[in-house]
Amino acid sequence: MDDIDSYLSAQAGQFEDDLCELLRIPSISADTARHADVRQAAQWVADQFRSLGLPTETIETSGQPLVYAETPKVPGRPTVLVYGHYDVQPVEPLDEWISPPFEPTKRSGNIYARGATDDKGQMLTHLLAARAWLKTRGKLPVQLKFVIEGEEEVGSDGLYGYLESAAAKEKLACDVAVISDTSQFGPGQPAITYGLRGIAFFWLKASGPRQDLHSGTFGGAVTNPINAICRLLAPLIDERGRIQVPGFYDDVAPLSDRERQQFAALPFTDAAFMKQIGVSGLKGEEGYTTLERRWARPTFDVHGIWGGQQVSKTAIPAKAGANFSFRLVPNQDPSKVIAATREFLTTRCPPGIEIELTARGAPGVVVPLDSPYVAAASRAIERGFGKRPVFIREGGSIPIVTNFRQQLGVDTLLLGWGLDDDNTHSPNEKFCLADFHRGIKASAHLWQELAN
Ligand code: BES
Ligand code: ZN
Repeated sequence: MDDIDSYLSAQAGQFEDDLCELLRIPSISADTARHADVRQAAQWVADQFRSLGLPTETIETSGQPLVYAETPKVPGRPTVLVYGHYDVQPVEPLDEWISPPFEPTKRSGNIYARGATDDKGQMLTHLLAARAWLKTRGKLPVQLKFVIEGEEEVGSDGLYGYLESAAAKEKLACDVAVISDTSQFGPGQPAITYGLRGIAFFWLKASGPRQDLHSGTFGGAVTNPINAICRLLAPLIDERGRIQVPGFYDDVAPLSDRERQQFAALPFTDAAFMKQIGVSGLKGEEGYTTLERRWARPTFDVHGIWGGQQVSKTAIPAKAGANFSFRLVPNQDPSKVIAATREFLTTRCPPGIEIELTARGAPGVVVPLDSPYVAAASRAIERGFGKRPVFIREGGSIPIVTNFRQQLGVDTLLLGWGLDDDNTHSPNEKFCLADFHRGIKASAHLWQELAN
């Protein structure tokens, strides 16, 4: 692999320039005003594959296009599906960014920009590793099929729809999938992720009086929609961190003693964690450690709650809204959770308030660790990062992993090059440039290890 390793060293600067080019495109899938930019990002990715001489398609979906490219089949060797996303999260609050989100800036070994780690930087590591192989050897040791989507941050509807078709199942047929859209365990400690949480996400609207009312004239006699939302949401979880929706825990896969021991053996302290996120105390489900709570237990979080005006004004608002979610663990059925939550909220809705609830969900996953693919990934990561990976779970969700299992019958290798403090979905998102290069090297070695 010396030829490829030297190509990677020689091209390091070029790789960073390429990353910056992609990071300058404000491809925010949640913002319709940015949809032309989302398409431009798709175009940029497709052009990269085309410039490598690979057959490349931009596949239209119900939403944003999928970029598909493949290298030739290698007889007797596995076919690997590489998934990533070129869309990014919104950037608000904008005034908290030290440098503007779409002007990639290098500071102390990191590249700062929206999408740096989630997922443009991580996704590119695989494209660039393929480029290294093609430029040095003219071919790959395994067949790679890339599917890069533009709607991951808004629920992947287009890709879900596409995967239903027989044509898609044939096109994407593979032996194993690879996704880099997660994190290492910590700086200098790479990891392979074997579990992700699922999610049930809700939008709640509450409407009361026809229009805003004077709270002196009318207050006390009508239900205030903001008060109603608070009263509806607060009882969803108790003081001990237990979710109160009936039946919620029925299907929760318990943590085995072995897994609890493995989590406990990882170098982690609450004190360092508190310092990292800037909090003076921790709280979660009683009876579980911080890593257990983050990786393998359900949660309830309110993400936004709105209504009224942010001025001193004594009015009862006509409407209020909130969005919130439960993170789910493997074996929980999101549709059961959604139905039970709907029942919980509807039966508690106070007089004079109409609620409207919409929801979507995706299950959690655990992937087996005893496969030759995991062993190959482990060796490749050791080559790229100079250290053997540990096995971890993550609290975030990548719903497509379940679809790959159901629709394509394959497991996914979750090889994360990011770090917990990369500020994903928040201001000053970053990606460590050394990890970007280590990720490219690990990926280049992965294709060889998978061929072996
Ligand atoms: N890259 C994340 C998933 C992730 C987050 C993995 C944290 C590991 C740790 C992904 O882009 C993401 O944010 N997914 C959403 C999915 C949701 C919109 C269905 C998430 O987890 O909130
Ligand atoms: Zn992501």
